Amino acid sequence: MSGTGTALQDTPHAPGTGALLEVEDLRTSFASPRGEVGAVNGVSLSIQRGRTLGIVGESGSGKSVLSRSIMGLLPPTATRTGRIGFEGMDLSEWTDSRYRDLWGTEMAMIFQDPMTALNPVMRIGRQITESLRFHLDMDRSTAQETAVELLRSVRIPEPEKRFRSYPHEMSGGMRQRVVIAVALACGPKLLFADEPTTALDVTVQAQVLDLLAEQQRDRFMAMILVTHDLGVVAGRAHEIAVMYAGRVVERAPTAELFANMKMPYTEALLAAIPKLADPPHTRLAAIGGLPPDLVDPPPGCPFAPRCPYARERCHRERPELVAVDGNPEHQYACHYPVDSPETIEIKDRMIAQQMIEDPSAPVSPPVIGGSDGR
Ligand SMILES: Nc1ncnc2c1ncn2[C@@H]1O[C@H](COP(=O)(O)OP(=O)(O)OP(=O)(O)O)[C@@H](O)[C@H]1O
Ligand code: SF4
Ligand SMILES: [Mg+2]
Repeated sequence: MSGTGTALQDTPHAPGTGALLEVEDLRTSFASPRGEVGAVNGVSLSIQRGRTLGIVGESGSGKSVLSRSIMGLLPPTATRTGRIGFEGMDLSEWTDSRYRDLWGTEMAMIFQDPMTALNPVMRIGRQITESLRFHLDMDRSTAQETAVELLRSVRIPEPEKRFRSYPHEMSGGMRQRVVIAVALACGPKLLFADEPTTALDVTVQAQVLDLLAEQQRDRFMAMILVTHDLGVVAGRAHEIAVMYAGRVVERAPTAELFANMKMPYTEALLAAIPKLADPPHTRLAAIGGLPPDLVDPPPGCPFAPRCPYARERCHRERPELVAVDGNPEHQYACHYPVDSPETIEIKDRMIAQQMIEDPSAPVSPPVIGGSDGR
């Protein structure tokens, strides 16, 4: 989607609270006939109540597997290692049945497609009241009143009437509001919103994202907002983690990330956001090439085959996540960050080449497409 959303209101940290969620060196792989698929490869992150963390990356970068790993929603073919601390508890060894007690009341997830998240043959009101009765032990009439109020809070018009509708009787945007109401019903402390608006048109996307931001603030929830679009999280997340091939490759408070971007991959994601100032029909910079094979990843930087700034060292040596000098909150994994002399030299050459080929074209960051770029 386009645009960078509404201005983010800074949510104060709750006095005396540490991180709600703390993940250390999380790794998740899946058994497959070709070998282990390394979907999440050593991710560490933390989030406090009242804060929004944006997780951004292309398709297949491990965003959903990371969220599902934290939520304890993995299939039996998965192996998960690392530490997951939540509210002072260590969830690392928890079984599915123990996790079940957390779902809804402590952690909840909004999935991408509202049609699969809702039961098509159950009235929407009942989909909310069942959860309230099961998790919060409410009686029928209290659950009904609470469900109607929830529908009202997510701006469903005529909530008393809509309570009796089936999902197919509502528009996509309204259905996604219902999914949000279901996820919020039991007051989770942590909400995962996994591409919550991809199935919606641009105007409705913005409304639903604004609604989520409002609910997150009002409830002082922590939210992990997962998207492939840097523009979606630009105005809505306090902090952004960029994922590539199952790793966090750059992480920073949002304003710092945009002001002082380090990773060529983040730069490429930025170039892929449609700008309001772009003339109509501007061709967007696609990220050429394909992500690496997660069964047999290359030895060096996983982005090297697609990176216009890659040098010999990049193909040989994997860059570790390191902090920017003097700013431990901003970390990146790159040997030649976008403001390094080596990269600036290549960038200048590419821009000069671009101007020779098309002098009328606006000067923009180089379109990524490495040796195997398409
Ligand atoms: N059950 C599974 N078995 C084997 N591989 C899987 C399984 N689930 C996910 N994967 C693989 O793990 C990798 C990461 O997938 P994931 O769904 O987390 O990507 P994503 O970043 O959420 O992408 P998208 O933006 O398309 O939703 C992909 O290569 C995917 O094929
Ligand atoms: S410059 Fe090298 S290390 Fe940095 S992203 Fe490109 S290939 Fe990776
Ligand atoms: Mg996904």
